[in-house]
Amino acid sequence: MNLTKIKQTVDFLILKGFVECENAVILGTGLGSLVDAVEHKISIPYSQIPHFPISTVETHSGNLILGNIEGVKVLVFQGRFHFYEGYSMQQVVFPVHIMKFLGIKNLLISNAAGAINLGFKKGSLMLIKDHINLFPKHPLVGPNKDEIGVRFPDMSSAYNSHFNEILTTVAKNLKIPLEKGVYISAQGPMLETPSEYRMLRRFGADAVGMSTIPEVIAANHAGIKCCALSVLTDECDPDDLKPIDIQEIITIAKKAEKKLVLLVKEFFKSIA
Ligand code: HPA
Repeated sequence: MNLTKIKQTVDFLILKGFVECENAVILGTGLGSLVDAVEHKISIPYSQIPHFPISTVETHSGNLILGNIEGVKVLVFQGRFHFYEGYSMQQVVFPVHIMKFLGIKNLLISNAAGAINLGFKKGSLMLIKDHINLFPKHPLVGPNKDEIGVRFPDMSSAYNSHFNEILTTVAKNLKIPLEKGVYISAQGPMLETPSEYRMLRRFGADAVGMSTIPEVIAANHAGIKCCALSVLTDECDPDDLKPIDIQEIITIAKKAEKKLVLLVKEFFKSIA
């Protein structure tokens, strides 16, 4: 998406009152109910925002919301765009580019992922400490958008260590067990074969999913500090792999969502 379109969208949102906010969150599969914790909100369906792609996944309702979480102003992207839906990487990271020009400094991303580390159980939460990008494309290819960031962005600390410490402390205080691990991307939409899960584990991954990495790359490019949490929805044991039931994944995500919402609320309170 070119800068002119990005700025047209930003101008539209500023006129609608999406101003003076430094914090944002992108909500993943089955994880949209954080919006219930948002007070004094303004909300616009993605379909009414100029140039905004429209989410095609039924489990994602696409809305952009601005309001207060625990008294802290947060911009909430309820619903994201996946590469497997057919969007270009530029469309996938459009929300991050919008954030940049709206003045967002801090970003938390959530997703649903499969547990490759067999010590991690479904229904638990994982802090992403690093990632391995296996998408066949990524968002920074092409002429660099100098107004957004540098040509060769550093990725040595893509997941902000201060934010990771805060999430760790907050989880401990709330007595929510929080795994930590490496997230690896799969293009999707199909899930993995047993041999693929085995390979991903050998690569050094703890969890696999179909999102998040493009947004994290774009956020690092844009100088937006970010962190990410996965809800582990299935156990990917190559020697005992059960057929995946997408309904079960959504049910497990929904159950774990309560913990996630508590964690996210306390996170924003702590960084304020
Ligand atoms: N693989 C890829 N993406 C996923 C999985 C998985 O096992 N579970 C949830 N999202």
